[in-house]
Amino acid sequence: MPTFRTPAYYTLCYSDAGHGPAVLFFHPFPLDRHAWDAQVAALVPEHRVLAVDFPGFGESGPPPAGLTLASVAANVSRLARGLGLERLSVVGLSMGGYLALELAAQDTPLVERLVLADTRAGADSAEGAAGRERFAKRAEKEGIGWIADDMLPKLLRRRPDIQVSRRVAAAIALATPAGVAGAQRAMAARADHRGTLETLRMPALVITGTEDALISPEESVHMAELLPQGRLHAIPGAGHLSELEEPEAFNRALVSFLTE
Ligand code: MLT
Repeated sequence: MPTFRTPAYYTLCYSDAGHGPAVLFFHPFPLDRHAWDAQVAALVPEHRVLAVDFPGFGESGPPPAGLTLASVAANVSRLARGLGLERLSVVGLSMGGYLALELAAQDTPLVERLVLADTRAGADSAEGAAGRERFAKRAEKEGIGWIADDMLPKLLRRRPDIQVSRRVAAAIALATPAGVAGAQRAMAARADHRGTLETLRMPALVITGTEDALISPEESVHMAELLPQGRLHAIPGAGHLSELEEPEAFNRALVSFLTE
């Protein structure tokens, strides 16, 4: 897999396949770029598709202390421009959505179309950030064995598909304590981009699972209203990981948005 060595002393690993208009995927926490396999497969016949592993996940290198989403976004922008890409569509789900929004805020001309799935624009409350620090410390102390039990009920719909549960648990088992801690701290320190939304004039699609237990569909409705060219697509019966629970419905919405 190609690897980009950032000036901030960490590496970003990414997949890069196909030809055509470029689409870049950012995965949710605590998974890796394979969370997007079904979407990559759907787009690759007619697009160039890139999917990046967040530092400490998949094949990317470990996160440095003090990693921020702003740093990851800046380095993804360098990576894309280094590949000669001047315009691309960006798709992010949850943590990946925080990163997509950060990239769109930092390098707006790069982002042709924006897809924000099961995510939010606001920053953490003090209480939320403190909860993330507890999560990070527990991962550093106990490892990651407890995370699937803790998170699966929040990531999936009320009555999840057993295959999807197994797949997500197996993906979580590949996470590293350092990656988990780094991502939690980076998310806790992220900027509040609610005010940024109205400045992002590119076509934007906001996707929400109607059973998202982590980020309420109402937040997505509001985000779509604030984006000048925002539109909302709700996926009935999907939980937070809507791209994994309802990949066909997700792909239909995605492909129709990217090819209209
Ligand atoms: C995710 O699904 O990426 C995370 O649960 C998001 C978060 O913790 O805010």
